[in-house]
Amino acid sequence: MPRRKKDLSVIDFFDIESPESNEFRRVLHNLNGAPIGGGERRAVLVTSAMLSEGKSLICSFLAMTSARFKNRKTLLIDFDLRRPMIHKLFSVNLQNGVSDILTEGIASRNVIKQTALENLDLLTAGKVMSNPSELLSSTAIHRIIEEMKFYYELILVDSPPLLPVLDPMILLEEMDGVLIVVKAGETQRDIVVRARDILAAQKDKVVGVVVNNLKQSLPYHYNYGYYGYHHKPTKQ
Ligand SMILES: Nc1ncnc2c1ncn2[C@@H]1O[C@H](COP(=O)(O)OP(=O)(O)OP(=O)(O)O)[C@@H](O)[C@H]1O
Ligand SMILES: [Mg+2]
Repeated sequence: MPRRKKDLSVIDFFDIESPESNEFRRVLHNLNGAPIGGGERRAVLVTSAMLSEGKSLICSFLAMTSARFKNRKTLLIDFDLRRPMIHKLFSVNLQNGVSDILTEGIASRNVIKQTALENLDLLTAGKVMSNPSELLSSTAIHRIIEEMKFYYELILVDSPPLLPVLDPMILLEEMDGVLIVVKAGETQRDIVVRARDILAAQKDKVVGVVVNNLKQSLPYHYNYGYYGYHHKPTKQ
């Protein structure tokens, strides 16, 4: 019986032969290029300056790429408790996730959701919070991430944007690195500069910038195969 449209998951759109797939592999390769302090970058935050730059989508494709190509036990966590998206992308329940761990002290391992992709598990956001910054104490985040590092080789964390809210900076304290998504052709330069300033105190953790939407913003003769996504490692 054919599946209903609403059951479609982003996994169904994960084309391992596509040029974008290559770019996601490149980003992952660079993630562990020059780890800070010689350690591995096991927990990586994905954020952007503003709303709707493609954080959740890119985070999901990176997680699928890690599980599929690198054969790494990968966990994707939706730490965007305001506008959660990962459960929609993977067609799973929102309930029983991060906010439930934070408010009810449920053990993280009890609310992990498996996906159709071997090696990829999810921690959804749980019930939506209007002011999650209060909930996001570094001790609680630390506890979740440290426990998950025991089970997973890579933990990718989707988050809200940097300019409007504090959440990503609170999360970043407990992460080994951060990837910044920039939507080409839409996000203005001064907005990106402001995001860079916000990150200044944690700049050693910035692993790179993923430019989204280049196909729409470059002249038509550019080859999407080469320019669809571009990852630029920052100087350490
Ligand atoms: N490269 C792309 N091509 C086509 N559509 C895209 C692309 N990147 C993102 N989108 C679409 O743009 C919308 C926003 O993407 P997404 O939810 O990943 O952004 P976000 O930065 O996580 O947003 P939010 O700030 O709300 O968390 C979604 O509908 C997504 O499918
Ligand atoms: Mg999002």
